[in-house]
Amino acid sequence: AEVVIVPDEAAAGALVADAIVGLIGGKPDAVLGLATGSTPLPVYRALAARIAETGLDVSRVRGFALDEYVGLPPGHPESYRSVITREVVEPLGLAPGLVHVPDGRPVGIRTAAADYERAIREAGGVDLQILGVGRTGHIGFNEPGSSMASRTRVKTLTEPTRIDNARFFDSIDEVPMHCITQGIGTILDARHLVLLAFGAAKAPAVAAAVEGPVTSSQPGSAIQLHEHVTVVVDEAAAADLQ
Ligand code: F6R
Repeated sequence: AEVVIVPDEAAAGALVADAIVGLIGGKPDAVLGLATGSTPLPVYRALAARIAETGLDVSRVRGFALDEYVGLPPGHPESYRSVITREVVEPLGLAPGLVHVPDGRPVGIRTAAADYERAIREAGGVDLQILGVGRTGHIGFNEPGSSMASRTRVKTLTEPTRIDNARFFDSIDEVPMHCITQGIGTILDARHLVLLAFGAAKAPAVAAAVEGPVTSSQPGSAIQLHEHVTVVVDEAAAADLQ
């Protein structure tokens, strides 16, 4: 992987937004892989600003979210469908119908995973996948123990991840137990992976992903199996790298 150490989150956002603007300039119907959580927000902010400044045509840009909670009430503000609408689709001005999120409604969950895989395939695959990494080492919601060949499926969230994500809810009891997530194999099919991480709490997961043994105990280490990876981290998140 190419590792870029940036001074702060704003610099990371600017760097990745520039790469995405370049991608869309050459491919107006580019397919973006969208992460949720806090990490990618500086990218989305910088990208929205670039689009506003330059008038870049994003009307044909397509998007696929990494994951979704299972069983939140429809329209819940913390469902990843709601988050993607609020943080990505609206500020960037993307066409809502071209931005996909896995369907986390319990009814239909049996077919949702295969449907999502098919939709990605029919779009021609993801051009640039934005990734965060969890403290547990997860990418998407592929917690430790996820197969390197896994595809989109329903998973159980680990307790540390539910604790970390409780900040978005009124209490931990409201954090869903299950999710539907792209698999590691699905993520590895993207043509360019861009993994971002900020802050000291992410340092062990970053080191494991970039330099550790490739193991399903550290799902982020799957990025070592990909030939085009950019890791963008601040000093604190880079602290455990050799
Ligand atoms: C989000 C996702 C997760 C997050 C990870 C880090 O779609 O799939 O892997 O990227 O949990 O979360 P933050 O960025 O909130 O620290």
